[in-house]
Amino acid sequence: MSENTQTHPAADGQQLVVEDLHAYYGRSHVLQGVSLKVGAGEVVALLGRNGAGKTTTFRALTGLMPRTTGSVTLGDRQIGRKSTHQIAQLGVVYVPSGRRSFPMMTVKENLLIAVENSFRRARRKQALDEAFAMFPALARRVNTNAGVLSGGENQMLKMACAFLLQPTILLLDEPTEGLAPIVVAELVEHVRTLADTGVGILLAEQNARFAFQLSARAYVLNKGIVQMSGRVSELAESEELTTHLGI
Ligand SMILES: Nc1ncnc2c1ncn2[C@@H]1O[C@H](COP(=O)(O)OP(=O)(O)OP(=O)(O)O)[C@@H](O)[C@H]1O
Ligand SMILES: [Mg+2]
Repeated sequence: MSENTQTHPAADGQQLVVEDLHAYYGRSHVLQGVSLKVGAGEVVALLGRNGAGKTTTFRALTGLMPRTTGSVTLGDRQIGRKSTHQIAQLGVVYVPSGRRSFPMMTVKENLLIAVENSFRRARRKQALDEAFAMFPALARRVNTNAGVLSGGENQMLKMACAFLLQPTILLLDEPTEGLAPIVVAELVEHVRTLADTGVGILLAEQNARFAFQLSARAYVLNKGIVQMSGRVSELAESEELTTHLGI
């Protein structure tokens, strides 16, 4: 293992397995039996148009929906009934879409919150250095308020904070939303690097091209059900899929 990953023994081989997940907003039955798997070091795409249920899947997985049924396991542990905080501590970390860093705090202060939650004092500096090594653009903005970062830098900050929580599985919700193509290309590398540390990544995207560059497998959601799933090499050939996603 390289020096860069020393404080991150996340590659513990635990698989996330979701079976028959249902979720509701009031009477609206939004997720209608979603099943999926994400292995260690794997990048798996969760595709679907507006309103397909991608974000709801993440919210349901991390205890943020008022009513859910189904089974969610990480390794041999059931995590489906636990609180969001416990689920994160057990290793499933959700990175929401949009701008969610603390805008009035500097990049370093944002990262320190994650570090202080996850590392004993003696290891914090090393953990922070590793995050900066992984996201050099952040090292150049260390004392900048997060509120003035570009969209791409903010996305990197969110991913770095999530990485510092030592996840087993990262749930990335539309990381490319609103970003210029050149920044999207840079993010591809960052997501790959994260996966190379052994973190399993479930990547929700409307941008199927971005997802296909990173993922070997994909699930396609439509109206709260998995309409198609399989290897990206095969799905990308599917006319049904490309028509459905408009790509
Ligand atoms: N807070 C809410 N209250 C009621 N219904 C909601 C709420 N949030 C989402 N929904 C509905 O749940 C369904 C799934 O929405 P969700 O946000 O999970 O889709 P998505 O795939 O993430 O879409 P997008 O690509 O636009 O982010 C949609 O029909 C949406 O209208
Ligand atoms: Mg969404």
